[in-house]
Amino acid sequence: MTSTVPIRRVGASGLAVSSVGLGCNNLGRPGTATQTLEGTQAVIDAALDHGITFFDVADCYGAEPGLSETLLGRALAGRRDRVVIGTKFGLPVGELNGPDFGARGSRRYIRRAVEGSLRRLGTDYIDLFQFHTPDPTTPIEETLDSLGSLIDAGLVRYIGHSNRSGWQIADAEAVGQRLRHRFISAQNEYSLLHRTAEQEILPAARHYGLGVFPYFPLFNGLLSGKYTATSAPSGSRLAEIKPALLESADWPRLEQLQGFADARGVTMLDIAFAWLLSRPEISSVIAGATRPEQVAQNAAAATAIELSPTDLAEIDAICPGPGRVSQF
Ligand SMILES: NC(=O)c1ccc[n+]([C@@H]2O[C@H](COP(=O)([O-])OP(=O)(O)OC[C@H]3O[C@@H](n4cnc5c(N)ncnc54)[C@H](OP(=O)(O)O)[C@@H]3O)[C@@H](O)[C@H]2O)c1
Repeated sequence: MTSTVPIRRVGASGLAVSSVGLGCNNLGRPGTATQTLEGTQAVIDAALDHGITFFDVADCYGAEPGLSETLLGRALAGRRDRVVIGTKFGLPVGELNGPDFGARGSRRYIRRAVEGSLRRLGTDYIDLFQFHTPDPTTPIEETLDSLGSLIDAGLVRYIGHSNRSGWQIADAEAVGQRLRHRFISAQNEYSLLHRTAEQEILPAARHYGLGVFPYFPLFNGLLSGKYTATSAPSGSRLAEIKPALLESADWPRLEQLQGFADARGVTMLDIAFAWLLSRPEISSVIAGATRPEQVAQNAAAATAIELSPTDLAEIDAICPGPGRVSQF
């Protein structure tokens, strides 16, 4: 192991994870080095070598649904007990889990989903089973009761949610307390370039003791510092898949951020990680990666710099937050 990533608790739960994790939605993604098992293996091995032990995946990720889970399970073979796996269910996956009848929070569907994820991951338990997005048709009581029975059966250790609004988090919390099966985590978009989670999600997480996993922590790689207004490395996500993000990027702001990093002798990527980790609500920064060297840089970013209150104020001036919804 060449670097050590500090461990954080997930909210008020007993689950502990590496504070830098690996987002796994690149595994099996066409056009990336992690499209194949070989490329995936290199990234997973690098993650473990550098102290990253938390892996975030979902049943819907991959060129076809299920592929990212299958590749992750195969790449981790023989090392299951050294890692924490979070996966997700609840977004459309075609026929992967059989017909869903539009009710992917239902008891019937959840059972199919967990059985599929366990099979593809090649494990007999999932550490964190996350409800990927709210299901407007199924009562949250049924969803939480079904997830609780998976915990009772030993198939799942903890449950989390994703893409819920503030009121939906509060609603799920009240029901979870009543059923004695609470969600322990929230996964929502959050980065220096997308701070709306500060309005409702982070305050709710603080109040209820949820750990937050920020997704798109590098804003799809824009915050890695490898892009400029006129150049994008070939093979990168923004060059190949999401060029619109390059066209709409606020380059003067990114140049200011680069200057802030340069003045402290670190990279923009280090700042993007350190800024997220300065929030106590954050459990793990789950950046995706397509190459082993990216994993090494991301692991090192966990301890590259500690931002002072003055640094944080300076960052606020460069990348302002959304403002609070209410003072109360
Ligand atoms: N809950 C949800 O609804 C939801 C939605 C989206 C994502 N997620 C989760 O969040 C995770 C993170 O999101 P994400 O991976 O899409 O976005 P991200 O972390 O903002 O960006 C990751 C991309 O940035 C580039 N990158 C990473 N490290 C780098 C480095 N050190 N140097 C240069 N480039 C680097 C890589 O792309 P290239 O090499 O291709 O440039 C990588 O795929 C996902 O993997 C997934 O697990 C959840």
